[in-house]
Amino acid sequence: MNDENRTTLLVLGAVVIGIVLGIFLAQQVSGDIRAVSSDIKSLQASLNGVESSIKGVDSSVKDIKTTLAEKDKVSFRRDMQENGRRMLSLDYAGKFTKWDTAKSEIEELDKALQDAAILDSQLSAAIQDFRNMYIPKLKDAVSKKDTKNFESVWAETYNACIGCHKGAGSPPSAIETLREISSEVEQLAG
Ligand code: HEC
Repeated sequence: MNDENRTTLLVLGAVVIGIVLGIFLAQQVSGDIRAVSSDIKSLQASLNGVESSIKGVDSSVKDIKTTLAEKDKVSFRRDMQENGRRMLSLDYAGKFTKWDTAKSEIEELDKALQDAAILDSQLSAAIQDFRNMYIPKLKDAVSKKDTKNFESVWAETYNACIGCHKGAGSPPSAIETLREISSEVEQLAG
């Protein structure tokens, strides 16, 4: 073998080794890529899992919120029913000149109104206005111990209750209940 042939053989050998090494490396890299892509896939799957459990949490939070809102509504209605009873006994108290009773009924009416204001954020300001306007008026009327004067302040207050019910679009039951209160009062007076 002459020098030229040897050189050619060496070069050829080097090329073959290069190709084999190249294939080997390429396979290694593609294996790595496959491993990475399967990692990404499983990561994606667990992200999907997280996303769906977040959705689950979201919907339970929504459920809780609705339940709480419904509870508030029921409590608000109960406060209003109490307002009705307080207004009724307040009128009795005035007619029978039980001014101490009237005073404590006004306190209780104020508490129930305050509670209702906390429960309904939309009506809160209107209820506070109502309190600021009529609770002092009623208290003032009680301190005067004059049944006639007290009755006119009571009627003014009662009309303001109805005024809000009309504006707030409250169900007919609210008006009905108030009508019952006023007819009971009228029967008592008549
Ligand atoms: C700022 C508005 C507002 C004021 C002031 C107000 N109410 Fe109400 N009231 C409502 C609304 C709204 C409802 C309906 C609640 C519901 O059914 O969800 C209601 C309902 C009622 C009910 C019916 C409850 C039931 O069983 O459905 C009564 C009784 C009542 N109110 C009495 C009164 C009396 C008495 C006063 C005055 C001392 C008064 N309210 C003042 C807004 C008001």
